Amino acid sequence: MRRRHVLTLAAAGAVAAGCGPDKPAGSPAGVGGGGGNSAAPSLGPGGLAFPQGFAWGASTSAYQIEGAAGEDGRGPSVWDTFSHQKGRTRGGDTGDVAADHYHRVYEDLDLMQRIGLRSYRFSISWSRVMPDGRGALNAKGLDFYHRLVDGLLARKITPVATLFHWDTPQGLQDKGGWEQRDCAQWFADYALQMFYSLGDKVGTWLTLNEPKTVVQMGYTAGVHAPGKRDKRVADVAGHHLLLGHGLAVRAFRGSGKPGRIGAALNLSPVYPADASAGAARQAALVDDDENRRWLEPVLRGRYPDSWLAAQPANAPVRAAIRDGDAATIGERSDLLGVQYYNPVYVTAQGGRVNKHPTTQATWLEVFPDGLFDLLTRIGRDYGDVALTVTENGMPSTSDVQDDDRIAFLRDHLAAAHRAIAAGVRLEGYHVWSLLDNFEWAEGYSQRWGLIRVDPQSKERRLRASAEWYRDVIARNGVQP
Ligand code: FCB
Repeated sequence: MRRRHVLTLAAAGAVAAGCGPDKPAGSPAGVGGGGGNSAAPSLGPGGLAFPQGFAWGASTSAYQIEGAAGEDGRGPSVWDTFSHQKGRTRGGDTGDVAADHYHRVYEDLDLMQRIGLRSYRFSISWSRVMPDGRGALNAKGLDFYHRLVDGLLARKITPVATLFHWDTPQGLQDKGGWEQRDCAQWFADYALQMFYSLGDKVGTWLTLNEPKTVVQMGYTAGVHAPGKRDKRVADVAGHHLLLGHGLAVRAFRGSGKPGRIGAALNLSPVYPADASAGAARQAALVDDDENRRWLEPVLRGRYPDSWLAAQPANAPVRAAIRDGDAATIGERSDLLGVQYYNPVYVTAQGGRVNKHPTTQATWLEVFPDGLFDLLTRIGRDYGDVALTVTENGMPSTSDVQDDDRIAFLRDHLAAAHRAIAAGVRLEGYHVWSLLDNFEWAEGYSQRWGLIRVDPQSKERRLRASAEWYRDVIARNGVQP
């Protein structure tokens, strides 16, 4: 189908039958919960209708919003340690209080309901529920997630729980963390406890959030926790993270709990910066690192030959990958979380250049068509895997009237809509982020929330983008 034709179809709200997502059968609360919206305003001419049951959502992560870092028996994570070290974060910011979500969970649930969210992606703080990372569960910490999940279900919002959003328990880091092969099993053991504890209420699980970022920022550039700068170690940690994913998926199957599980990967469409053969060659190498190195093991149970061949003969990751590991990592997933922020353009020298405007987050080059390219590419290369966008968004410097964010979200949703019309099985979309929060090394200097959180009082206020998103959800579509 040519693009023009797709657009015409889509504008009539006629996303072809068979293109749209089916609501997962047998899942207690599959992605796409929430009630109908018969009283909703309808889409006007040119409106882009999304498939029925589309999971309109928003995302957060534990360390970035919860605060209550030392309360109710929570143990420290690598991010507590890292953010408290001098010079690691902008202004010395930490997640000690963050958005104070731990104490304001009911207020936040009500705000989600006001926006009309159908799906809410959060992460469980491993060291809140297991203070040392292994062994006994912390009942008080677990209670918090029961309150959260119960509150979501009461509001007909589907909980989507991420098991690891970068906050490795410090107790495990002290034993070597992800550099240690054992960490994969520690993670799966913790995951199993979560399946047993919350598995009757949570229907969608995500194992890892963005292992690539942990490898690149946490272990190579050293600007995220745990602050290492060693590419060789980084790749070993990356393998153990993936192994942890596979073991957790296997544990999920073994738990007998209903529902679905997959990973949340940040992926970037990679393009040659010019028409030269050299740029095309370099782009293929970068694509291996950015995308295929993560997608292939998770969805096909093998590392790409070209990526393996590019590893130096003495690279420790070669020894770290043992027989059978790739198959473990490829344990069948039910869905893939796709996180899209930016494309990558590669020169013949292997350098990277920008071709589009960026945002306050200078790494975020705005290119909505990249989302279309990414989603259709996954569909083409990996078959009929169920996809949900688990993160997409931008920081805005506007206080409440964040028109730049509205335009960003609108354009990316239009790209997602085109991908659905082209046959991609996209089941949902989650804005990053619900709330202003602790943006890692950038501290509180970047504001990503649909909801403004006052830096001092922590008072909440819906931004213009939240009101806009509420209308999108109510109409089940976007008015370009
Ligand atoms: C992603 C992270 C998320 C947030 C956004 C802006 O890489 O998963 O926690 O920092 O970027």
